[in-house]
Amino acid sequence: MNIIDIITKKKNKEILTYDEIKFVIDNYMNDNIKDYQMSSFLMAICINGMDKDEVYNLVDSMIKSGNIINLSGINGIKVDKHSTGGIGDKTTLIIGPMVASCDVPFVKISGRGLGYTGGTIDKLESISGFKTNINELEFKKQISEINIAIISQTENIVPADKKIYALRDVTGTTGSIPLIASSIMSKKIASGADKIVLDVKYGIGALLKTKEEAIKLAKLMVDIGNRYNKETIALITNMDIPLGNMVGNGLEVKEAIDILNYRGNKDLKELCVVLSTYMVSLSKNIDYKDARKLVIDNLINGNAYKKFKEFVIAQAGDINNINISNNIVEIKSKKEGYINNINSLIIGKSSMNLGAGRLSKEESINHGVGIELTKEVGDYVKAGDVIAKLYIDKKIISEEEILKAYDIEETLKERKPLILGVIK
Ligand code: URA
Repeated sequence: MNIIDIITKKKNKEILTYDEIKFVIDNYMNDNIKDYQMSSFLMAICINGMDKDEVYNLVDSMIKSGNIINLSGINGIKVDKHSTGGIGDKTTLIIGPMVASCDVPFVKISGRGLGYTGGTIDKLESISGFKTNINELEFKKQISEINIAIISQTENIVPADKKIYALRDVTGTTGSIPLIASSIMSKKIASGADKIVLDVKYGIGALLKTKEEAIKLAKLMVDIGNRYNKETIALITNMDIPLGNMVGNGLEVKEAIDILNYRGNKDLKELCVVLSTYMVSLSKNIDYKDARKLVIDNLINGNAYKKFKEFVIAQAGDINNINISNNIVEIKSKKEGYINNINSLIIGKSSMNLGAGRLSKEESINHGVGIELTKEVGDYVKAGDVIAKLYIDKKIISEEEILKAYDIEETLKERKPLILGVIK
């Protein structure tokens, strides 16, 4: 077996065997296959795709490049949640305490943000003292004690994904459905949860731009999860406008606290309730309706927020000390009318340009900066009304950059639904 024959086979749209796929992953990991050969292989997959069995074999080979976390010592059905990423997506911070307060163990290994999409670990690190690098033993102990722990990705879970992802990032091979599915699902399976809830986003601020692509990815990931005997469901959700009103690390923690106190942006709250409901219903094996009632009751009676505080204390964070800049610049509308759109991609990039995001994994970020959208899609505004606030530090962006994100028009247009559907 050799890599040139395997690349040629994929170039000719042939189906690869398990042994061929495993050969590529193993030999890329021990440096027998070089980056230029792997790039060519990845590009052949991008162009010609893979069938379901090939993707499944790729997932399997990637998982075997590292360790699988064994969570069997923790009581209860463990449900993991994953979002394909978007602007202002702070759902993990909200859903974790929500489901944990319903007595469902929330076990989460999260990543940092790259580019204009944020990462849960960066958001949590905007809380003073918060530790995200606790070891596996402490992690398991914390889940047994308080039902929730969130830690950063360790080196030994799917190291193949780490190496391949870095290459995909610089070779134009990120936007391939088989490669995205294998990257996400190998990590989910290796993380040890029993069941998986996915939030697959589509739209201008998402990895996938169309709902058709999102549905295809969701179906593939659900299939992979089920093949591993991990019941998996996927929500298809829209990412044309930012999720919630805050974009930027510390600001997003503040917004998460608002939602956990049953206040704040309705769309964000509803998405978190729906995702949590699926998780609770899968874990407790109860009806959607009963699970939803439990989730909402725990939001209203304060248990979810109490759980969040417990979780922050357990990971050494100081909830009264969240990094948010107090240097604020107001952005005022120049037009009168209805806000029909707030372009999430522009807001995401602007927030990154303020310092909230990083272009390469090595860059540091500023946890205190970001953007607050003080008016929402559907609101009527007059010229001079404040529509956004920039929380700034050393970097500044122009008012025009933000104003470009807004479509303000005479008549109100109908909005796309936030939740398009569920794939089971
Ligand atoms: N998230 C991942 O972990 N991998 C991808 O390929 C895309 C999003």
